[in-house]
Amino acid sequence: MKRLKLAILISGRGSNMEALLKAAAAPDYPAEPVLVLSNRPDAIGLETALEAGVPSLAIDHKAYGKDREAFERAMDAALTDAGTEIIALAGFMRVLTPWFVEKWQGRMINIHPSLLPKYKGLDTHQRALDAGDAEAGATVHWVSPGVDDGEIIQQASLPILPGDTTDSLAARLLPVEHQLYPAALARACAAIKARL
Ligand code: GRF
Repeated sequence: MKRLKLAILISGRGSNMEALLKAAAAPDYPAEPVLVLSNRPDAIGLETALEAGVPSLAIDHKAYGKDREAFERAMDAALTDAGTEIIALAGFMRVLTPWFVEKWQGRMINIHPSLLPKYKGLDTHQRALDAGDAEAGATVHWVSPGVDDGEIIQQASLPILPGDTTDSLAARLLPVEHQLYPAALARACAAIKARL
């Protein structure tokens, strides 16, 4: 079985990245991590990647000032050098330009902490609580030029309980995300292979 070369983009804690690395440790998982890339040099997730023996790299967006595309060209070069065939955004907190998104469209996925199409963007749990929703969840989707707007690959939900706060919801959702993302990434790999 050919495994697709996987790059994971992070900005911080990287717990979803860790879940993907754990899943990919199985030899029959359809993706093989080749690079973990962070836009923040102090991201904790970089240490986790190092411990897992996966090549990791920080490209500090601040070094590029307001020139988003120059930052993305540096990322693109590193991704291409690593032979990347699929990108998983995992808590990557930079908005990407149309140039980068179009270049990787159909090969880049993201995990978002809401049941899309509800609550694109930030503060998803607060918005779900404010709306009185009965459930919250997470979505893995293809990345398209609109923010959190691409085709949905897979979702997972959980009930909102009386007394829930944004923190309690986020804490209960995290292990759900860690199950969801490896399963959805495997589906994305199958979709890419079917296209080849
Ligand atoms: C997750 O809740 C994910 O859905 C969102 O950002 C958070 C990242 O957490 N996009 P981590 O860095 O994977 O621990």
